Amino acid sequence: MSHLQTIDASRYKNIVFLTGAGVSAASGLPTFRGPNGIWQGDVAYVTNAANLPGSLPQLWEFYGRRRAAVQAVQSNPAHTVIADFQRKWHGSGRSVSLFTQNVDGLHQRGGSPDVVELHSSIFRTRCLNPACALEPYPDETVPDEIPTCPLCGWALRPDVVLFGELLPAEATWRAQRALRGCDLFIAVGTSGTVSPAADYVRRAGLAGARTIYVNLTSMTPRNTAFKEEYLGPAEEILPVLLGG
Ligand code: OAD
Repeated sequence: MSHLQTIDASRYKNIVFLTGAGVSAASGLPTFRGPNGIWQGDVAYVTNAANLPGSLPQLWEFYGRRRAAVQAVQSNPAHTVIADFQRKWHGSGRSVSLFTQNVDGLHQRGGSPDVVELHSSIFRTRCLNPACALEPYPDETVPDEIPTCPLCGWALRPDVVLFGELLPAEATWRAQRALRGCDLFIAVGTSGTVSPAADYVRRAGLAGARTIYVNLTSMTPRNTAFKEEYLGPAEEILPVLLGG
């Protein structure tokens, strides 16, 4: 483990954050993996796109419950310190990008001015019909039954990215652009097991970035592209690391 001290952000021009479920743990939201993780039972069936449309009832049940759970919590210092850092350092020829695998919207509620949601958001709904003109739209409802599209009558679904689906094109494009010139890469609260985000550190390293991993536990297996590792709760480490 490295010795924790505040980063001198003025030395970097293209800073990239990648966050995962661990940044929302202090808000009271369970992570995906680990002893109390939600990644158990039939979640694997529900979150696999290959099981649509048969899995729609369970998909709405699962994400409807998560909508309600997320609405009941608040952002925590891990979110707000990153937001403050973005506001302080983005601009004047310096870019600070925030990519999250989270679908809970807590970075935005914590004040982040710009968040790239790699796995989209539970608070958006879209039509299952790929040919339908309905745009994904903001939606906080917790429906009792599968809602139907007002344009084509097909079933609606939460807009989250499921296994077997591509990331949103704009997110992919922004990640490519940010990683190409990255000189400081900080991953926080992610087990580093889900691609393509799990590969971002390698790309940042190839660009010559300083690479930092902040997480409760070490990554297993260890990813040697991370050159520094700070273990502990993100909500305690980030205020020191980012000088919040
Ligand atoms: P995981 O649940 O895989 O990993 C969360 C990590 O956060 C674990 O390594 C924990 O040790 C760590 N952690 C827990 N509490 C923490 C804290 N207070 N501070 C710092 N770290 C803490 O979650 P992700 O890596 O985000 O995708 O998972 C990636 C993707 O897997 C998710 O976006 C989701 C899931 O399948 C889709 O649903 C498409």
